[in-house]
Order: sequence, then C-alpha cells, then structure tokens
Amino acid sequence: MMTSLPPFKLERFFAQYEFQVKYLLSPSDCEALSMRELLAMADPDSLRLWEQLSLGYTESQGLPALRDEVSRLYPSLQAEDVLILTPEEGIFIAMNTLLEPGDHMITISPAYQSLYEIARSRGIEVTPWQVRPTESGWRLDIDELARAITARTRLLVINFPHNPTGYLPSKSELAAILALAARHGLCVFSDEMYRFLEYSPQQRLPAVCAWPDYERGISLSGLSKSFALPGLRIGWLATRDRQVMQKWLMFKDYTTICSSAPSEVLALMALRARDQIVQRNLAIIQSNTLAAERFFAEFPGLFGWRKPNAGSVAFVEWLGQETVELFCQAVLDTKGVMIVPGSMFDLTASYFRLGLGRRNFPEAIMRLRDYLIE
Ligand SMILES: Cc1ncc(COP(=O)(O)O)c(C=O)c1O
Repeated sequence: MMTSLPPFKLERFFAQYEFQVKYLLSPSDCEALSMRELLAMADPDSLRLWEQLSLGYTESQGLPALRDEVSRLYPSLQAEDVLILTPEEGIFIAMNTLLEPGDHMITISPAYQSLYEIARSRGIEVTPWQVRPTESGWRLDIDELARAITARTRLLVINFPHNPTGYLPSKSELAAILALAARHGLCVFSDEMYRFLEYSPQQRLPAVCAWPDYERGISLSGLSKSFALPGLRIGWLATRDRQVMQKWLMFKDYTTICSSAPSEVLALMALRARDQIVQRNLAIIQSNTLAAERFFAEFPGLFGWRKPNAGSVAFVEWLGQETVELFCQAVLDTKGVMIVPGSMFDLTASYFRLGLGRRNFPEAIMRLRDYLIE
C-alpha cells in the first residue's frame, strides 16, 4: 500500500533557518569551497573540459570520465558500476527499486530520515537498529541486528561514518555485519557520504560496494560532505550488481534523467584534488573539535559529550533542566544560533547535533557560552 511521504523534519527545519540565521551550530557539511578555490585546484585536463563545456543534456549514467574517477575509489569496480546522481536522489531511487511492498528492512537509527521514510511510505516494514551511547562512545550491538532479521527482511541500511553520532565501527565489526547479511541473503545499502573524514586514515573502512566476499553491497557517496561541495548536487550509487544498475537507470528517467553538465566537470576536478580538499576539511574539523572540547569541559553538568571517530557531526546529550527543544529555541531566539534537537531524528532522548565543519564554529559556540553564563 502506498502512503504519502511525511515531512522530512530535518530538511524542513533547515529550510526555516539555514539562510536566515548567521550562526549554524548543527550543519553536517564542511565549509563550502568557492568556485575560485576549486578552479585553482583543477588539473589541466578537467580545466580544458571546463573551458570547452557544452551545456547540453549529459549521459544519463553520468560523464564517463567522472564515473571512471569515482570507480577508482573502489577496487574491482569499473565506470559501468557507477551511477552519477544527486545523493538524496540516490536514496530515493534505491528505496524504490530494491524493495517491494510487504518486504521488511532494518535501518541504523537514528538516521537521516529518507534512509527509512521512503521505504516506509511504500508499505515496507522498517525496524530500527539503535546506535546506543555507552561510557566509551557510541556502539551498535550485532546480536540486536541478528534478532531483528525475519524471513521477509530484504535490506539492511547502514551509514558509517554515522550521521548524527560520528560513530564508526571497526573493520572487523563491519565484516561481522556483512557476514550476517550474506548468511541471510540481505542486500546492504551503505550510506558513505562522510567517508574520507576519518580522524585517522587507518580507521577508514573499505567501501561496502567493493567488499571482497560480499557481492550485494551498494555504496552511496558524494561530494556534499567530505568534499565541501553540496551545491554541486553530485553524488553516486555504486554496485557490482548489473541487474540492479539497470533498474536504477530505468528509474532515473523519471527523476532527473541526467546530471548537470557544469557540476559533473567540477566534480571531476574535486575528485582529482581529493587529498587537498579532505585535508582542508579535516583541519577545520580538528580545530573545531578542540574548541568543542574546551567548551564542554567548562559545563560538565549540562552536556554529555562523546567525541566522534569520524565525520563532521557529533551528537551531544543535553542534561539541563528544560527540554532540549526549549533549550535550542531559547538559544536561537536570544543568540541567533541554530541548533538541531534530536527530535529532528525521531529521537525522544535529550540530544542535539553539533556540526564541526564550518569556519565560524568557534564564534557560534562562544555565543552559546554567552547564553549559558549570562
Ligand atoms: C547520511 C546522509 N545521507 C545522505 C544525505 C543527502 O545528501 P545531499 O543533501 O547532498 O543530497 C545526507 C545529507 O545531509 C546525509 O547526512
């Protein structure tokens, strides 16, 4: 049974405030690169493509050179295994093609709402798999996942590095998850939008689409977070399953048909300058994390801070007297600082998201400090 899509809480919240408020303490992206900065990093080949660009329709699957560059991120994948699209569109297409009404899926929770809402609106039963806070950070319990699998389960949705907690499992934990999925014949949709933002490179997980002994993995990634280029609206789905790729291509004719020609070439430049861009973003995150740690050390009774292992967001417990919604509203009203409460992630517990990727983070957190000490 098809039901209508409910509002995307987080996106509606951003729509209300993102361009009205000067200080955003909760965005998930990194400080956006300017056109000038990106062009200055461009290699001669992509610069030539840029100068000669024709603004016609583009190849539906994506610019071949861009798909080729993306496939280099994934050992054993080729350009044919990559579909270029908008990240959010990737979720929409996947959730409309990998599942049928009456199926069951399991999703990491809390999660970016479209990762479960699109399936739910199509009559698919969704069971959340909770990332839980512990003394030593965030954790997922694989036994809980095993218990949630039923005869109707078709899909497992994961997202590492995780939005909103910054949780990143170890490689052996991910291997155990994929082995369980393989045993039960599940397809795994892995949202890897924050991949490359691991705080130490040894922690980087292999992409699920290229996992050696699990063929049914799908990776979603893109340039909005780790590459600081959300305005390009470029991402991709990658899989070795050619039948699945055909279904996606057919579906894309009903969404965007093809990607924006300028964005594809700019995306090519960005991928080729990956190390430079990622290092820049990690440096911003690292310095903001130090500012956050200093701030939280000053107010131990008000906040439960768990440092993320990766990504540009953290999920902070609010221990104050009033509800977290009232706290966020009061900070917005009095200091002009936007904070996203956990309820935007369908969470009743008292948390808010902290975005560590923007350059004016230190100023924004100082305004929050002013609010608390006044
Ligand atoms: C985990 C996750 N997946 C997908 C997306 C969608 O990315 P985009 O907004 O670039 O379409 C986001 C955006 O916040 C996200 O956090």
